[in-house]
Amino acid sequence: MTNNQDFPKRRKGSIGPNTTLAHAGWQPRDYHGFVNPPVVHASTVLFPDAATMASRSQKYTYGTRGTPTSDALATAIDELEGSAGTILVPSGLAAVTIPLLAFLSAGDHALIVDSVYAPTRNFANTMLKRLGVDVDYYDPHVGAGISAMMKPNTKVVFTESPGSNTFEVQDIPTIAKAAHQGGAVVMMDNTWATPLYLRPLDFGVDISIHAATKYPAGHSDVLLGTVSANEACWPRLHQTFVTMGCCAGPDDVYQVLRGLRTMGVRLERHQKSALDIARWLETMPGVSRVLHPALESHPGHSLFKRDFSGSSGIFSIVLAGGGQKQAHAFLDALRIFGLGYSWGGYESLAVPVFIGDRVVAKGSYDGPLIRLQIGLEDVEDLKADISAGLVAAASA
Ligand SMILES: Cc1ncc(COP(=O)(O)O)c(C=O)c1O
Repeated sequence: MTNNQDFPKRRKGSIGPNTTLAHAGWQPRDYHGFVNPPVVHASTVLFPDAATMASRSQKYTYGTRGTPTSDALATAIDELEGSAGTILVPSGLAAVTIPLLAFLSAGDHALIVDSVYAPTRNFANTMLKRLGVDVDYYDPHVGAGISAMMKPNTKVVFTESPGSNTFEVQDIPTIAKAAHQGGAVVMMDNTWATPLYLRPLDFGVDISIHAATKYPAGHSDVLLGTVSANEACWPRLHQTFVTMGCCAGPDDVYQVLRGLRTMGVRLERHQKSALDIARWLETMPGVSRVLHPALESHPGHSLFKRDFSGSSGIFSIVLAGGGQKQAHAFLDALRIFGLGYSWGGYESLAVPVFIGDRVVAKGSYDGPLIRLQIGLEDVEDLKADISAGLVAAASA
């Protein structure tokens, strides 16, 4: 073949993000020219002789340690993240828990942002605590103030930006610098932005975490997590991955690689529709605030503009007064938005937001919070659905 099948490799650095998405991680010539990699279902890998078996001197040795399918996705993620290595795990939550287990031991201290994804908090408050790790939660707006919270035994500073459900933007470079001065590893749950709109390692983060369940998979039918590390953190992360045997299944890995190919165009649409709806909601009676970092009204907007190159499709609204009754009336009136957890899929979803477990980032809101995931439907239909919800909330 004389075409440009290895074009992205040859001109690395000069190619755009959608070209990377379309070609990353796989060279068709490595498998007879088929444009997609094979889905390798494997536990056993055979060795040609006892000496090779003893020395393990062949590329693949056992299914938990990687296959051509998992390598294709992990390599694609490395190209997108600029990382030294990526592990693939069975869920986004596992992508949070495995690096925490890799870098924390009994007697250590961890700092976790208070606007973190709730199951991350649950893991810290139960499993980490049981293992003898001390955890403190910090204000997402802490910035350089993180230095004052560092202890001699602080080993991990965990960030998530924007924060889950309330979308506070963190000053990641400042936090990373202070954390490194104190000798801690910096982790970031970067699911919201995807590596297309923020590359955490470029901002001083050591370990970038994604629930690939969301935009990379994109169709609400796959659970998968990716964890990408810089050169310094990769050996320990990889060792923990191998030790725990927490590998992802080949069909799910393949589906996420397939999803990556179209993630750019899907995200553009999510971004455009979400921003259109968010701006419109700012003008709607019955809405007190719209929590979307790409809006000029958002308190973290200048940080957002400095660090992010785009926004995805999930944000929250604060209803103008009322409580659970009004929130339920809003949700029950929706016909296109489904009531369901997760996000990043093709369909719109709405969930009530609970922040009663927060320690510092409690915020001050005039009414109940509702999180909206804006899917790929027609914006006018979504606006009509939300309008019906607002009318129902107002008369509840
Ligand atoms: C920010 C964030 N991180 C991680 C996860 C966990 O992903 P998964 O559902 O694949 O376990 C989620 C899920 O909603 C999330 O919102």
